[in-house]
Amino acid sequence: PAAHHADLVVFGGTGDLSMRKLLPALFHSDRDGRLDPRTRIIALSRGGLTDADFRGKVESAVRPGLHTGDAASWDRFLGRLRHVSVDVGAPGQDGWGDLTRLLGGYEDVDRIFYLASPPMTFGPFCRAAHAAGLVTPRSRVVLEKPLGRDLEGAQRINEEVGAIFAEHQIFRIDHYLGKETVQNLLVLRFANAFLEPIWNSLWIDHVQITAAESVGTPGRRGYYDHAGALRDMVQNHLLQLLCLVAMEPPARNDREAVRDEKVKVLQALRPIAGTEARRFTVRGQYTAGQVDGEAVPGYLDEPDKTPPTDASRHVETFTAVRAEVKNWRWAGVPFYLRTGKRLPFHRSEIVVQFKEVPHSIFPGGGPNRLVLRLQPSEGITLHILAKEPGAGEVTPRAVPLSLSFADTFRTRVPEAYERLLMDVLSGNPTLFMRRDEVEAAWRWIDPIIATWEADGAVPGPYTAGTTGPAAAHELLGRSGRAWHEED
Ligand code: BG6
Repeated sequence: PAAHHADLVVFGGTGDLSMRKLLPALFHSDRDGRLDPRTRIIALSRGGLTDADFRGKVESAVRPGLHTGDAASWDRFLGRLRHVSVDVGAPGQDGWGDLTRLLGGYEDVDRIFYLASPPMTFGPFCRAAHAAGLVTPRSRVVLEKPLGRDLEGAQRINEEVGAIFAEHQIFRIDHYLGKETVQNLLVLRFANAFLEPIWNSLWIDHVQITAAESVGTPGRRGYYDHAGALRDMVQNHLLQLLCLVAMEPPARNDREAVRDEKVKVLQALRPIAGTEARRFTVRGQYTAGQVDGEAVPGYLDEPDKTPPTDASRHVETFTAVRAEVKNWRWAGVPFYLRTGKRLPFHRSEIVVQFKEVPHSIFPGGGPNRLVLRLQPSEGITLHILAKEPGAGEVTPRAVPLSLSFADTFRTRVPEAYERLLMDVLSGNPTLFMRRDEVEAAWRWIDPIIATWEADGAVPGPYTAGTTGPAAAHELLGRSGRAWHEED
């Protein structure tokens, strides 16, 4: 169904996220008939562009990367685009007047402010929009991650935004929640009967959540030096996945019921600080190496407009953490999280490893594994043991029982942002993070970072194109476990 008639105002509308993710997602939704014909997309930047300049930029930067789109759909999409130059530091400036005029007469239309900009601009933007009289009861605001750098910063942003918008109007986006496999995890768990009875510490040995990237961070030093892998990926994406694996069945598939259950998981995470942080977390930074047959520089030598500093030397591009959810269902089950740049492959997956049978009557064997692949090639694989054909000795062998979304459903798997933008436009916040969730996640992350900072050690080096520092393997190896590496 087409989303409501809306004005979508994107602050940071000519930036990287907008060009790479938001505009392509909006185009595909438009082409598939999911945008109201009257919906406008208004990009805000300091760039001084006219509507025509902006459309030209979108034509050259966005169009080449799109899935098929005929000329008519493209023209209709371009027709929705506007550009207004505003400076968030200058609320009285002309641009705000231009924006007010453009939005005038549309007060009864849903008005979405999408803040695709650094978090320190969230509060000032909301205040400036409010001062210009642009915030209506039908307004919503979308906040991109990261929401601050720590709990205190996140609380401050939440206060500032909350002074202008009510919580039900605030959509904190985590694009991992829009990925098809992630939504499928809820269906797999709660629409099927066979998993839930064994989804606990009696049957599950451990869970691994990996988001491995082969890309590095060229041109991102300004952001990345002050973020690092734990803040950039674990605080949000990986913890959200952990919540969906670990949460109790909600009573309804609705916004509060799902989020209530997720927040309980975050609150049950065993705190990691001091000695435990040294024991249960690993940090790494890549040095020069080879990825996909190509020589790549180390983190400190990535091309960038600013030279590396002490912060660059201390920032982690890889991290692994052994987490634990302290509740009845999960006590004692490790949740291993890892993410890194310049690893040998681009792969995000959740691996649930079951315990071995209590008593084996066959030689060999091994545990069952359920693998939920987020990317690439989304799908779900259950590794079961089967008998090798033949008249000799009965030998169990792990074989995959596979569901590939592409082969089964034969439709294009939409990008996460398509789904999430449609949810924003229709006002459904189920897949967005509530204030208490974001803050609970920071509450668990902060002591880890505090320990790292107090220790002052530099992250362990790993060669680009390898699977991270040796310590990441020891994290599992010391209890006889190993990361799931095969395809
Ligand atoms: C972003 C991080 O949130 O997620 C990036 O800031 C990371 O560093 C990206 O590359 C990964 O997203 P995806 O969808 O490609 O896994």
